[in-house]
Amino acid sequence: MDLKIYSRKGKNKVNFDISFLNHEVAQNIHDYHNSYPMYKETPLVDLKEQAKLLGVSKILVKDESYRFGLNAFKVLGGSYAVGKVVADRLGIALEDLPYEKLISREVKEKLGELTFVTATDGNHGRGVAWAANKLQQKSKVFMPRGAAQERVDNIAKEGAEVTVFDGNYDEAVRYANDLAEKNGYIMVQDTAWEGYEDIPRWIMQGYMTLAWEMYTSMEDMKVKPTHVFLQAGVGSFAAAATGFLVNMYGKDNLDITIVEPSTVACIYESAIENKRVLVGGDHKTIMAGLACGEPNTVGLKVLLDYATHFISASDEFAAHGMRVLGNPLGEDKKVISGESGAAAFGAISKVLSNEEYKDIKEELGLNEDSVLLFVSTEGDTDKQNYKDIVWDGKYQSL
Ligand SMILES: Cc1ncc(COP(=O)(O)O)c(C=O)c1O
Repeated sequence: MDLKIYSRKGKNKVNFDISFLNHEVAQNIHDYHNSYPMYKETPLVDLKEQAKLLGVSKILVKDESYRFGLNAFKVLGGSYAVGKVVADRLGIALEDLPYEKLISREVKEKLGELTFVTATDGNHGRGVAWAANKLQQKSKVFMPRGAAQERVDNIAKEGAEVTVFDGNYDEAVRYANDLAEKNGYIMVQDTAWEGYEDIPRWIMQGYMTLAWEMYTSMEDMKVKPTHVFLQAGVGSFAAAATGFLVNMYGKDNLDITIVEPSTVACIYESAIENKRVLVGGDHKTIMAGLACGEPNTVGLKVLLDYATHFISASDEFAAHGMRVLGNPLGEDKKVISGESGAAAFGAISKVLSNEEYKDIKEELGLNEDSVLLFVSTEGDTDKQNYKDIVWDGKYQSL
């Protein structure tokens, strides 16, 4: 088992403009998602017994397995970005395009035939395919080599043409983008690179509905988090949540930790080098959603300026998190959490319960007053692997 931490305490410049992730933007995007008939706030679970056991004040886990019946948070980004693309094409504001109008025959006729293209480890592509399907438009989705069949099938069920590409996630992104450019398709990617930053910014903003819900729930509970743990692939999700929470609570009142798989920890490496580091190769990890080696150019700037700690963790930590969240203590509620969803919780649960990691606990400043916030970003999106891990103990974490 391998767990490493890097601290940027005192190294943050805190000057990248995060106003695109502020309160007003989040409220508007929440209103947009609220116009979807399938919209329902996902639970923020208060694991009281677990907090007692681990010696902290509170452990809150946002459970995204309930999101739109799609078992992951990702659809929030795709649905907002697709809405923005359509509003732009029609020359109207998104506020004037609630769900019923967005999916109407009138809008479809005005738009004509569109094809949305994306590359995905699973959850994002499912969200884009879902949104295209609702608009009665086409989608083409590319998945990296080794994609789980259940994830492929779930995207195909949304009417997308799915291709498992012979390459890793980042190579699939490049291939999909070339195809979109050559054919006039619309590339809806959840990561940014130089020259492609508008749609990824919208996707990041779409994720703010989740952050907004967490914030309003915590306000209702009269709780403020002291430590936030966010898992990252390209870092879009982590940056969206970081930007919003820093805007709400202030940089000095929060310790934000980014967690990645040790085999493909591109944000962790970038934090150490203080510049964008790319990690190539096969990205072997069970955390499929986090198996990305090229940081989002915009998201990385947010994370380097506003996140405090960066953790790289091997697969056993994610497996441990899945088992603990799926087998709660006493009255605590069960959270069905997938490999990527449980990564951050799994790592911190070990840090708090195992003497071996006491230096990391100290570095994070975790104690009996700490209020910990996690996001279980997906449920059991690969059911066979979920059973192998939770029932049969695969990726043992002793
Ligand atoms: C379940 C899950 N969690 C976290 C992430 C990480 O998001 P990002 O790539 O924006 O860092 C993903 C990405 O696909 C995911 O599917």
